[in-house]
Amino acid sequence: MDQNALKQKVAEAALRHVPEGEVIGVGTGSTANYFIDALATMKGRLAGAVASSEATAERLRGHGIEVLELNQVGSLPLYVDGADEVNDHREMIKGGGGALTREKIVAAVAERFICIVDGSKQVKRLGGFPLPVEVIPMARSYVARRLVALGGQPQYREGFVTDNGNLILDVRNLDILNPIELEEKINNITGVVTNGLFARRPADLVLVGRGDEVITI
Ligand code: A5P
Repeated sequence: MDQNALKQKVAEAALRHVPEGEVIGVGTGSTANYFIDALATMKGRLAGAVASSEATAERLRGHGIEVLELNQVGSLPLYVDGADEVNDHREMIKGGGGALTREKIVAAVAERFICIVDGSKQVKRLGGFPLPVEVIPMARSYVARRLVALGGQPQYREGFVTDNGNLILDVRNLDILNPIELEEKINNITGVVTNGLFARRPADLVLVGRGDEVITI
């Protein structure tokens, strides 16, 4: 099965975890897009969705699914999203698509976070994928210097602006021995909005599409 078929399979497997009559959070990226397409089959049984990006909001609306602002909803029983890397502790690197901040906000609010990935995203140790860091534009050089001091090699994602009007630095070569500590350390740099480590709030369940089966972590 090719990677896209695995993404679709795992996205469809997440459907059975979607509670009827509720508003749910929906992530961003190609795997999340398969989930949105699958979600369309139960749109009459959903109260709506909170989107983690403008692109996701547009795709949801395209399927006739009502998109609500996070501030309009009291609770969010579920958030479903992909990841760029996930380890055995269900900690992740996210933000390859640049939507990390809104994703982290929706994940923080959700009671349950289900991560959907194909097998290529499963790793023993996080950090092979460059860590995205969302930065306030005027702080770009300062934050880059601080990231170098942490041992990383930041690269400015040229020509890319987040939905929040900010920039992304993709950081290679970080030694991610303790993901929670590094997540906090990077978030404490003045000018950082957030970084793509999802360790303080890991996923509650990871569905991995591998071969013919969907494995759960
Ligand atoms: C978007 O900003 C990301 O966090 C995505 O969830 C992540 O990049 C996974 O994307 P794909 O499903 O396209 O691999």
